[in-house]
Amino acid sequence: MTDTWDPEDYHKHSYPQYTFALGLIGRLGLDGDERILDIGCGDGKITAQLAARVSNGFVLGIDSSGEMIAFAKNMFPRSAYPNLSFRYGDAVNLPFSQEFDVIVAFASLHWTADLATVLQGIKSSLAPGGRFAAQLMAKRFTTQERSGSPLHQARREIMARPAWRPYFRGFKKQGSVVYSADEYERLLRDAGFSPYRVEFVAEDVTHPGIDELKGFARATWHRYTSRVPAESRDAFLDEVVQRFIEQYPPDRSGQIHVHMKILEVEATVSDD
Ligand SMILES: C[S@@+](CC[C@H](N)C(=O)[O-])C[C@H]1O[C@@H](n2cnc3c(N)ncnc32)[C@H](O)[C@@H]1O
Repeated sequence: MTDTWDPEDYHKHSYPQYTFALGLIGRLGLDGDERILDIGCGDGKITAQLAARVSNGFVLGIDSSGEMIAFAKNMFPRSAYPNLSFRYGDAVNLPFSQEFDVIVAFASLHWTADLATVLQGIKSSLAPGGRFAAQLMAKRFTTQERSGSPLHQARREIMARPAWRPYFRGFKKQGSVVYSADEYERLLRDAGFSPYRVEFVAEDVTHPGIDELKGFARATWHRYTSRVPAESRDAFLDEVVQRFIEQYPPDRSGQIHVHMKILEVEATVSDD
């Protein structure tokens, strides 16, 4: 288990993110000739799906993890995917000028603390008439209820147990920023976008069994697990998964269903 992204583990266990992303890709209604930027492309499998849908366009995936980019390049080489490329890039420092028709970000922007700067960069990178679409973790304004799932709730419970609590002191301050849907909408408007859809979408994500559920948690939650000593991380994840299945037992075939929700936003660049 690593302190940073493990691309292979992520590739194998990120089917929840993939399921959500396919939903948004379908809703994009692509014409097939768009120039697309995928920010925080990770292992690249969603980026490759986009490329398959724009045979007369191209897709560039960028990510601030060198390991993820190396994995994506290797898994989806130019020789087999001529309209798809990957390169290292940081969302807070986008070097593009009006080069893309569509910019997407799946499950990545809640990892960046300075969203205002990211949105400015996205706006500058879009060609006139371009649009931006993203899926990201958010919280509901009034209740503070977060998107995510009961699995995330189980994690919060375990983090609060005496055995684990000391490792998470001060964690929020160091973590990524999770805004409410209202705050995202305001940030988009402040950056010069016209948001036309800001809504939570839900999926019933099916994990084949306990190992896969734990694999999903391990592959996606390294920011949490890295707070715990390396030799105890497995035990921490076991407790989270056990807590979850106490409340939501596997079905008769051993599959585990997790109700997840995520915020989806779509916006165009405002006319000046
Ligand atoms: C949960 S993964 C999502 C990967 C992929 N989009 C998916 O949905 O499967 C989050 C990704 O965002 C990337 N990321 C985090 N902060 C970033 C930043 N500032 N700039 C670019 N990528 C970033 C991480 O390296 C990671 O690959």
